[in-house]
Amino acid sequence: MNPVPADRFTFGLWTVGWRAADPFGDPARPAIDPVETVHRLAELGAYGVTFHDDDLVPSGAGEPERADRIKRFRAALDATGLTVPMATTNLFTHPVFKDGAFTASDRSVRRFALRKVMRNLDLAAELGAETYVFWGGREGSESDAAKDVRAALDRYREGLDVLASYVTDRGYRIRFAIEPKPNEPRGDILLPTIGHALAFITTLDHAGMVGLNPEVGHEQMAGLNVVHGVAQALWHGKLFHIDLNGQRGAKFDQDLVFGHGDLLSAFFLVDLLEHSGYDGPRHFDYKPARTEDVTGVWQSAAANMRTYLLLKERAAAFRADPRVQEALDVALSAELATPTLGEGETYASLFSDRSAYEDFDPEAAATRGCGHVRLNQLAIEHLMGER
Ligand code: GCO
Ligand code: MN
Ligand code: MN
Repeated sequence: MNPVPADRFTFGLWTVGWRAADPFGDPARPAIDPVETVHRLAELGAYGVTFHDDDLVPSGAGEPERADRIKRFRAALDATGLTVPMATTNLFTHPVFKDGAFTASDRSVRRFALRKVMRNLDLAAELGAETYVFWGGREGSESDAAKDVRAALDRYREGLDVLASYVTDRGYRIRFAIEPKPNEPRGDILLPTIGHALAFITTLDHAGMVGLNPEVGHEQMAGLNVVHGVAQALWHGKLFHIDLNGQRGAKFDQDLVFGHGDLLSAFFLVDLLEHSGYDGPRHFDYKPARTEDVTGVWQSAAANMRTYLLLKERAAAFRADPRVQEALDVALSAELATPTLGEGETYASLFSDRSAYEDFDPEAAATRGCGHVRLNQLAIEHLMGER
């Protein structure tokens, strides 16, 4: 079960490259050269690598250094065949963004943020990226008095409208993907869930080119069902990209290896992605635990891909199992696809259909068991390798 590029596994430079500094502790690992990351990921069977502008070129670096770093990175991509399907902007590390980027109250910070994104969009287009992620980690507040949320959303929309015009006018083949998160680093972040982001997108000038990059752990931090959220994003045609990782419950953002949080949810998420026709990258946005040395970093990268492939295999076996088919029949799973009204039927014919109401026996219908627990148990058994 070795990953191959056709599996479309991708990793951010900042994931394996995380030096394991946290609010309580110093960095526990050395920096890894992006060139080294490209080579290691290619050896492990990944398809691509993604980056924030500052992962590749430290903020404040001069033009010659920037050019040199990009040249070395490109050479590594060419040598390995690794792709860059997505890029994004760091609008959160520098203290200038402490009160937000697109929604900073200080207008000069907002203008600076837009320019920072435009600069990296040029590089993203040059490297062939098709998706540009917007994770607004600093767009939010700790005080409800500090920020007029409606004005902040106006500015958020303005920022994305301006950037979408830029991309369109330049002829870049790039779509935007908003990444929701409920909190951390801000006390409360704007566009905290998939649902908030979907509603916001409908207000944009270029709504058609803006979708979502949901992250497993971020929905789970909010106590939500990520499988339902991703399914709804798919239903709206808005699943442009996805960040896979693990999270155990509503607490700080753990960014665990995929499957190392809620395994059953990971199983059903893989089942959904594999059966929905989603053909985008399977992007791992995780952090190798602080306990790991550099060897552990590459082991954890491989673990993400291996877990995905195992879940994909288990999900296929689950679907093919006649007991599962039978349980799905008991659950009337296929019937849900049948429209509630017949073809050409209107509320008027529903109204005159006595079998729908007058002669319908709700008491009898209510006695019917759905067998959902058996279905869930079959999923658990497949997950555990019991046949
Ligand atoms: C997080 C986020 C970030 C973003 C990334 C893209 O863990 O809070 O996932 O890692 O995905 O920074 O901008
Ligand atoms: Mn996260
Ligand atoms: Mn993410």
